[in-house]
Amino acid sequence: MRFSTRLVWQSARLPFVALTCLQLITAVLLAAQVIVVQWLLTAILDLATTGVQPVVLPILAMALVTALSAVTGSLQGSLSRYVGEGVARTMWQSVLDVSTGVGLRQFEDPSFFDRLDRVRSSALTRPFQVTSGVIASIGAVVAGVGLGATLVAFSPLLLPLLLIGGIPLLLTSRQESRLEFRFSVAQTQPLRHRTYLSILLTGRDEAKEVRAYGLSPNLRARFNAVYTRYLDDLRAHLRRRAGLSFVGQLTSALILGLTLFVMVWLIATGGLSIAAAGAALVAVRMIASQVQSLSGGVQAIFESGLFIDDLEEFLRLAPERPAVAAPPPRPFTEVVADRVTFTYPGREAPAVADVSIRIGRGEVVALVGENGSGKTTLAKIIAGLYPVDGGVVTWDGVAHEDLPPGTVTAGTAVIFQDFVRYAMDARTNIALGRPDEEPDDARIVAAAEASGVAAFVPDLPEGYDTPLTRLFAGGHDLSGGQWQRVALARAFYRDAPLVILDEPSAALDPRAEYDLFSSLRATLAGRSALVISHRFSTVRAADRIYVLDAGRVIESGSHADLMDRDGLYAELFRLQAAAYLPRDEA
Ligand SMILES: Nc1ncnc2c1ncn2[C@@H]1O[C@H](COP(=O)(O)OP(=O)(O)OP(=O)(O)O)[C@@H](O)[C@H]1O
Ligand SMILES: [Mg+2]
Repeated sequence: MRFSTRLVWQSARLPFVALTCLQLITAVLLAAQVIVVQWLLTAILDLATTGVQPVVLPILAMALVTALSAVTGSLQGSLSRYVGEGVARTMWQSVLDVSTGVGLRQFEDPSFFDRLDRVRSSALTRPFQVTSGVIASIGAVVAGVGLGATLVAFSPLLLPLLLIGGIPLLLTSRQESRLEFRFSVAQTQPLRHRTYLSILLTGRDEAKEVRAYGLSPNLRARFNAVYTRYLDDLRAHLRRRAGLSFVGQLTSALILGLTLFVMVWLIATGGLSIAAAGAALVAVRMIASQVQSLSGGVQAIFESGLFIDDLEEFLRLAPERPAVAAPPPRPFTEVVADRVTFTYPGREAPAVADVSIRIGRGEVVALVGENGSGKTTLAKIIAGLYPVDGGVVTWDGVAHEDLPPGTVTAGTAVIFQDFVRYAMDARTNIALGRPDEEPDDARIVAAAEASGVAAFVPDLPEGYDTPLTRLFAGGHDLSGGQWQRVALARAFYRDAPLVILDEPSAALDPRAEYDLFSSLRATLAGRSALVISHRFSTVRAADRIYVLDAGRVIESGSHADLMDRDGLYAELFRLQAAAYLPRDEA
């Protein structure tokens, strides 16, 4: 309750105060209704002796009270909606702080996703539900006290009976909350599976392969199976919940019935006048509904409280070091990985084992090796994205961890094998290389020329302002190789002393690849590059080549050294070269 109320207070102070006031006004209006009913009944019972005139005022009062209740009710609805959205925004900020602040390693952990999924769906609504629960409970208590006081004035016996009626409801609703939370935890993964299948079936990128392979019946059968299982579980869950709720409601209804019997007995024995009995009847109904809304409020608090414990635990994952503005890129003389070892969570064998490599200033260093040999993993380690399990990565002798925060990120430009295609215009796609600065058009054009983007972007309908996506009107999509050039432009625009290129030419045509690598040293202008490639034509010009096999460096040296050695490199090189030669020469 403290967490939620503080949150609501921070997100929408004024509407929250107004909402609480309205709730109190509603409570007062309820008690007023009972008094007006008694007034009206008395006047009606005296109609025969006094005539119509004394009835007019209570009728007007009744109309006024009813109108006021309706107005406060609708105001409350609007305010709740606004406060709810305000809280959702504040919560989004916290959730995004965590999900962008945690290390990349968390994203290898399914239990992190479980929590993230649950938080994404509960963080936005639950805190406000708790606060609404609190407001509703306070209102119910205030209204209950007001109504109770009026009722006690009629007869002291009725109130305690009515309150006892609320106890079974409170007990069962607490149990219901536990059931709800357990159900939600159990369904997190199946729900993610379902969402994933629905993305396969509706996504734009997936649409072509789904059609080309005729996948839709197969995928839909999977989707249906997951959904059916969910509905079965939901049915069982709802049955259990309804059973509990039935027991609670029934018991409390029986106690209400008993209260009404007591009232009839009071009238029969002359303990209560007819007008007072009429008003008491209204009060009893109203108190019963306040007890209901109190138990509803308490249930909302219990139920959301469990989700909020979950949420608070997630928010504790936020990094302690606050995000810092990127420091200026720091040049280096050499970057060294010294006997570096890294194992993915949940895996036995290390992906990178005991690897030492060196990248000097202005050098182009290449990593080669078969699929799964650990090249991308090593690139991520050098880019500072994974903390090593053993060994150390240093910039001029200083370990990554000892450099000022953000240094490695600011000093590195990476293009991943599966780089991101931002659904934004071409200029932004390049300028995101330096996200903290205003885009600089002259440098964007220079990066575009070095990467080959300048060959096609100016011809797009709106040049560099053309959105590179079909998601939005006026957008244009690019070919695979064109996208790769855009990613290269982004890396060059970053202007970092170390550039890491993971398969930068996989989608490039031979001429583009030739242009890229023949001008690479000029483009780098003294910066260093770590290039991963399966194309030996690209690799052979590197200053040094490291050959990875099952996570270990098994050979290193220049192209000539490695050919002399006649090991794995020479074998792979010859395999590729042979494919280009006439059959009898190979
Ligand atoms: N996120 C991950 N979680 C667990 N294991 C992983 C993960 N990513 C890669 N691996 C494993 O780590 C090993 C090295 O993978 P890595 O991606 O570094 O290979 P690679 O040399 O880049 O291969 P490729 O040439 O196919 O790009 C492989 O055995 C792979 O299965
Ligand atoms: Mg790879």
